[in-house]
Amino acid sequence: MADTIRVGIIGAGWPGSAHAKGYQQAGGYKLAAVADLIPQRRKSLMGEFGIPVEYADWAELIADPNIDLVSVCLPTDLHAVAGLAALRKGRHVICEMPPATNAVEARRMETAAAKEGKTLLYAAQRRFGAAEQAAHQAIAKGYAGEIYHARASWTRTRGIPIGTGWFTDGARSGGGALIDLGAHMLDLAWHLMGQPVPRSVFAAGHQKFQSLTPAEMKNNVEDSAFAILRFEGGKSLELACSWAINQPPNQNGTACRVYGDQGAVEVYTPRGPVLYRGFEPNGRAKEIQLKQPKSGGHMALMRHARDCIVRGAAPISGPATGSGLMRMLDALYKSIATGKSISLT
Ligand SMILES: NC(=O)c1ccc[n+]([C@@H]2O[C@H](COP(=O)([O-])OP(=O)(O)OC[C@H]3O[C@@H](n4cnc5c(N)ncnc54)[C@H](O)[C@@H]3O)[C@@H](O)[C@H]2O)c1
Repeated sequence: MADTIRVGIIGAGWPGSAHAKGYQQAGGYKLAAVADLIPQRRKSLMGEFGIPVEYADWAELIADPNIDLVSVCLPTDLHAVAGLAALRKGRHVICEMPPATNAVEARRMETAAAKEGKTLLYAAQRRFGAAEQAAHQAIAKGYAGEIYHARASWTRTRGIPIGTGWFTDGARSGGGALIDLGAHMLDLAWHLMGQPVPRSVFAAGHQKFQSLTPAEMKNNVEDSAFAILRFEGGKSLELACSWAINQPPNQNGTACRVYGDQGAVEVYTPRGPVLYRGFEPNGRAKEIQLKQPKSGGHMALMRHARDCIVRGAAPISGPATGSGLMRMLDALYKSIATGKSISLT
């Protein structure tokens, strides 16, 4: 492979464009082709990023021999289909989140990446944001002591995604708010905790806002979900997510707090990520603003992808992470369906 990595983007919605920008900012890539069934979407990406070649269907793009790396930005039910086909054609893959609609698909991708010896990275962009990177570094250095609990949420007051019509169709999306928003926050909190081995999960899901989607659109998924996960060593994680919920205005958005025996880290504050330590008997603590790296978001993700492909760096959000995340999500959905706690041992 030449020094410049030739990229094909399949799926030209918001994530396709975010990937293109990330490659451009990271450097070392050539945006070689785009595929999307909607001509206007691919034309718009070609115009914005100077992409020379277009295809309609993703299968045509992955067959193009002038492509080294494929960004899979398709509806979630096509992640594994297209990701597997691309890996088997000898392409590296960066796949959007969630990794797949279920753990079986994610495992197939993991196996194929290993067999083909190709890089498979998931666009777990919350691991690559500047605030999240700073939080991870502080926790990994032990500044909060031993981590035993995390609380993560992404609760939108109103914001059911429409896309091209598949988000609310469980067979195509794998689920609702939990797999769409919850997956990102679960992934972030799990990452900050050092990816402990999950032992059991319990979750509840609700669908209360079906009336907010157009009547002709299939909507058979949860619009909010709440969960608790237990890990090895008794560590625990609370997760809350919603596409739609009635809540105070200041609750709209994301929160992620990680608790240790020496301190705590809050990732999202108006001042950026903050470490609290040196707790006094009255509960006061020192507040330390964490320094954020210059490179964040998709630029950082694409830089990391280059390190994996060219220098064999260990992936921060690779195949095993994708399978592990999907295993937890499958168990959470099983818990919602059965009303029971689900063991993962
Ligand atoms: N990381 C994030 O923050 C984030 C944000 C939004 C979406 N996503 C994920 O990205 C993926 C895509 O989401 P989206 O919002 O762009 O959805 P979307 O429905 O807006 O776009 C999907 C695109 O895929 C195209 N497509 C479908 N079948 C195709 C085929 N056979 N060949 C070529 N193109 C085809 C469609 O024409 C459409 O343009 C989903 O998995 C979603 O969960 C991630």
